[in-house]
Amino acid sequence: MQLKILVGTETGTAMLVAQAIALDCGDLVPGIDVVPMDGLDIGVFTQDALFLVCTSTTGAGDVPGNAQALYASLLGEPRYLGGVRYGLIALGDAAAHAATFAEGGLKFDAALQDLGARRIGEVLTLDASSDEEPEATAIAWCRGWLAQALAG
Ligand SMILES: Cc1cc2nc3c(=O)[nH]c(=O)nc-3n(C[C@H](O)[C@H](O)[C@H](O)COP(=O)(O)O)c2cc1C
Repeated sequence: MQLKILVGTETGTAMLVAQAIALDCGDLVPGIDVVPMDGLDIGVFTQDALFLVCTSTTGAGDVPGNAQALYASLLGEPRYLGGVRYGLIALGDAAAHAATFAEGGLKFDAALQDLGARRIGEVLTLDASSDEEPEATAIAWCRGWLAQALAG
């Protein structure tokens, strides 16, 4: 099954993470599509694919600018997403924004679950204030996540 990585970003980090996954994990799935969220609406989830939402946080716990239309569509044009399976990578900065850490991604998680979609695995949070290298952390996580997702 095709993997679609939906990317919400302000300054490009989430896109670098998605591209690193696409380069590294291609041996585990038939195809990986990296799709910026710009211009998307809830209809993207009707495609037959496994989804990975990879988004940062901006403002005070807000979804990035290029993710706003998709997020608004999930809330404003709800439809049952019972067949949808997804994973979530939420980027943020725990030192600078402790009270709203990674909330942009967590908002997508809550909205998708409200519509009946099923999250596979735990949310991966990537903290810009930590020493970790986000691409390496995400690749290691994604290989385990994909194994879990493809097993059931
Ligand atoms: C103006 C601004 C507001 C931010 N607000 C938050 C926030 O509320 N919570 C959080 O966890 N991170 C916040 N961040 C941190 C970013 O989410 C983090 O640096 C992330 O890695 C950026 O990814 P991107 O380049 O894909 O947008 C903020 C960053 C900026 C520049």
